[in-house]
Amino acid sequence: MAFKTIFEPFRIKMVEPISVSTEAEREVYLKKAHYNPFLLDSEQVMIDFLTDSGTSAMSAAQWGGMMVGDESYAGAISWHNMEKEVQDLTGYQYILPTHQGRAGERILYGHLGGKGKVFISNTHFDTTRANIEFSGAVAIDIPVEEAKNPMLDHPFKGNMDVVQLDALIQKHGTENIGAVILTVTNNSGGGQPVSMKNAKAVSEICKKHNVLFILDCCRVAENAYFIRHREEEYAQNNYREIAQEMFSLADGAVMSAKKDALVNMGGFLALKDKSLADACKNLLIITEGFATYGGLSGRDMEALAIGLKEVFDEDYLHYRIRSTTYLGEKLKAIGVPIMWPVGGHAVYVDAKQFYPNIPIDEYPGQVLVGELYLKGGIRSVEIGSLMFGKYDEQHHLVPANWELVRLAIPRRVYTQSHIEYVIEVFAELMKSRDRKNGYRITEEPQFLRHFTCKLEPVNA
Ligand code: F0G
Repeated sequence: MAFKTIFEPFRIKMVEPISVSTEAEREVYLKKAHYNPFLLDSEQVMIDFLTDSGTSAMSAAQWGGMMVGDESYAGAISWHNMEKEVQDLTGYQYILPTHQGRAGERILYGHLGGKGKVFISNTHFDTTRANIEFSGAVAIDIPVEEAKNPMLDHPFKGNMDVVQLDALIQKHGTENIGAVILTVTNNSGGGQPVSMKNAKAVSEICKKHNVLFILDCCRVAENAYFIRHREEEYAQNNYREIAQEMFSLADGAVMSAKKDALVNMGGFLALKDKSLADACKNLLIITEGFATYGGLSGRDMEALAIGLKEVFDEDYLHYRIRSTTYLGEKLKAIGVPIMWPVGGHAVYVDAKQFYPNIPIDEYPGQVLVGELYLKGGIRSVEIGSLMFGKYDEQHHLVPANWELVRLAIPRRVYTQSHIEYVIEVFAELMKSRDRKNGYRITEEPQFLRHFTCKLEPVNA
């Protein structure tokens, strides 16, 4: 379409009211939540950018599918619909349903991992790393050099450093490599895409050394959009074909269907090799469920099969990526420091630059998260020293590499007016960038502290 306005390729049949609050009310809510938006109730939030995971709006066709979901324990029609769809998309024969992405990760990486094993990725997502490390294995991230500079313009900052990949495989020995995992798009690296050229290079190296190559494919459709628009050879391909080609390069895939399968819950493991699939199937049955439902309801599998088709729709993907980019471009234009270029599912704000006067050990990212909520009822998440910071022996904070705030955009949920509203809230926050004080932590658990820790403002 030649027009500039982002045309949302859907109309709304059913609405979910948003409870509109005042700043004074939100002040009370945030204080009660100990300045940690994970502790807010969703009713207290006006725009929820906490995650794009499991927050999609399903289509009428998906809701229709829910009604005909077959809830049989074994051999349900809905399972066959899902299996067929995933086989067709991935080209892999063995499909294992799981309740979400991390269940597939636990099964596959638990089986392949263990002490002495090494996994290599462009960037392991938190749960991927946690499952690998829990098995006793080591997870190594090797993003390309360009990925390390948040402001550098580069079309494929999600790429893996293939020179390092080859060297690492040789260093550790092929027999010790659990798997090479390519995360598309690279969530922890800012939702940045991986090029087909890079995926091909990774595939060749893995074949050369005979090591397993797995795709973490939860945003594979969004990644396909970037390939078509940034990699010339693919300008004429449709998005599904691009994704299929990427799958053909790997030996298997793990998917959190809560992203690009447009469902609220679900996932799968898809594998080429029968003996690996058989081993995983045993583990699936022990902890997830029988091989034809794996922890999912029949209706969920039905919706997943439909969502996996819908996500490759030309107009949908255009709207999806354009609207994320639109938010990023507008924020950049009013001077908000953001990670560049804008990724597929989220805009990342550099909070260290946004609040240059707030010391890192007072968590500038969390301040921005708090202010977005207070001013606009917008919930976001800090990806910085609150999430990844550690302490040294003197209990001083060892900061994370970045102080980012992620605005993750749910699929098909918010309209352009909501996005304009978010931009307006940012414009308001731009007026108080000279803040000097942040937060201190008053209570924290030992692991994954950002979820449940309590904070309070440091007063001047
Ligand atoms: N891999 C990637 C790249 C992810 O982004 C996620 C989840 C998972 C695996 C795990 O999937 O949640 O279904 O178990 N990401 C969410 C997020 C939580 O907010 O980015 P899951």
